[in-house]
Amino acid sequence: MTEPKVTGLRSIDYNVTDVATSARFYENCWGLAPVAQEAGGQYLRATGAEHHIVVLHENPTAGVKCINFGADSRAAVDGLHTKLSGFGAAIGSAPAFFSKPGGGYGFAFSDPDGQSYTISSDVIQHGDAKMVEDRPFKLSHVVLNSDKVASQEEFYCDVLGFKVSDRTARMNFIRCSADHHSVAFAHANGPSLNHTAFEVPTFDALMRGSGRMKGKGFEVGWGVGRHGPGNNIFTYFLDPNGLVVEYTAEVEQVDDTYATGGPEDWAKRVGGPDRWGFAGLPTPLMQKAMGGDPQPPGVNVE
Ligand SMILES: [Fe+2]
Repeated sequence: MTEPKVTGLRSIDYNVTDVATSARFYENCWGLAPVAQEAGGQYLRATGAEHHIVVLHENPTAGVKCINFGADSRAAVDGLHTKLSGFGAAIGSAPAFFSKPGGGYGFAFSDPDGQSYTISSDVIQHGDAKMVEDRPFKLSHVVLNSDKVASQEEFYCDVLGFKVSDRTARMNFIRCSADHHSVAFAHANGPSLNHTAFEVPTFDALMRGSGRMKGKGFEVGWGVGRHGPGNNIFTYFLDPNGLVVEYTAEVEQVDDTYATGGPEDWAKRVGGPDRWGFAGLPTPLMQKAMGGDPQPPGVNVE
C-alpha cells in the first residue's frame, strides 16, 4: 500500500467575536454562501464542490480554531491516524463518521505547535460546482506563523505526506496536491495565523472581488501583486475581526519534477514578495495582522 497522506485542504474553522457579523462579511463582501448552521457554527461554501470551506464559531478571541485536510479514502484516514499515533501527536479519538454538516470520516489532532486539525474522507461534495467571475471556488492555502518552521515542515512532510515546494528567507511553502502550496510557515516569534487564501477563477475575478471589497469600504492591505513562490496573483484584506484574507488566482501547478528553490535562489530570482514590483509592502496594520495580532478594520458590514 502507498503511504497514507493528506491530499487536499478542505476548510478552516475560525473563532470570531460575532458570528452574525462575520457571516454577513463572508457572504456579502467576500463572496461565499451559507450552506448549514448548527449550534455555535455557521458553515459557508465556495462555488466549488467542497461542502464548506469556512466555519464560524463564536468566541471572545478571534483566530484560527481548526484547519481541515482531506485524504482520499477511509483507509488513508486510518493510516494517517496510525502514523500520528506512532509520532505521539495529540489525537482526539479514533477515526469515526462525523455528525456535523458535511459529514465525512475522520479524526482530530494537534501539531507540535498546538494547532488543531482534522483529516477526513467522504465529506459531502456539491453537484453544482461552477466558476463564478468574482467568487472564490475553493480554499487555496493557509499560512501559519511559527518559531519552529523547520520542525513544523518536517512534521508535515514526514507524518502527513506533504512535500516542500520552496523555501525563502520569510517562509517555507509545502504542498499536498498539484497546487504549489496548500500550507506555508512564516518565521515568527510563535504560533499564530498569518493569513488564509481563497482562490478565484481568474485575474479578472480577483480584480472584481477586490473591487467589491473596496466598494464595501474595505481597503486593500497589500496588492495587487504576483508572488514569487507559487507565482500566484494576490490582494489582501482584513476581515471584521482583523484576520487576514487573501484573494488569489493562477496558483502554479507542480508535480514531482518541480525543483525546490532555497532562500538564495529566490533572492536572486525575484528579490521581493511581488514579481511585478507593484504591490510594495503590506500596510502597517496588515503587517501586524499577518504577525498574528488581528487588526479589526472597523468597517460596518452590510
Ligand atoms: Fe498567501
